[in-house]
Amino acid sequence: MMASTSFMNFFVFIFAVLSALVSASPIKRDVFVPPITSPTAGTVWTIGSRQNVTWSLDNVPAQITNPKGVIVLAKDGLLIGLDNPLAQDFDITLGRFEITVPVVAPADDYALVLFGDSGNISPNFTITN
Ligand SMILES: *[C@@H]1O[C@H](CO)[C@@H](O)[C@H](O)[C@H]1NC(C)=O
Ligand SMILES: *[C@@H]1O[C@H](CO)[C@@H](O)[C@H](O)[C@H]1NC(C)=O
Repeated sequence: MMASTSFMNFFVFIFAVLSALVSASPIKRDVFVPPITSPTAGTVWTIGSRQNVTWSLDNVPAQITNPKGVIVLAKDGLLIGLDNPLAQDFDITLGRFEITVPVVAPADDYALVLFGDSGNISPNFTITN
């Protein structure tokens, strides 16, 4: 309960910051919140393997506030490794980005968060040895 509450608070905070930035921008831009299409629930990734993180480009606005993406690992609903993202500075309109599965304790409650204009979390998936 506590964990997911603080996780939500974090998103509320990020959203507030981004909203402030968007409203400060002189050009009208739309927020792009791309749903992650891989990994999904049931995905099993092996430590050290290369994997594509993919997301939907169905609703890409003409003007994107922040076209640079960041992928961060989460566990048990909490962001881990915010200071050490799995990927960053890639073009979010690519729709996918290849990452190396990090060396972490094997568990089935990992998720990825894709940040661009806003944050979007994947379903929980498994990382194994
Ligand atoms: C990721 O997707 C690209 C394009 O479909 C493909 O060429 C590449 O081999 C994929 N990488 C992995 C690790 O599957
Ligand atoms: C992933 O796991 C966390 C912690 O167990 C839980 O709070 C969260 O709701 C789960 N996410 C999904 C999409 O099931």
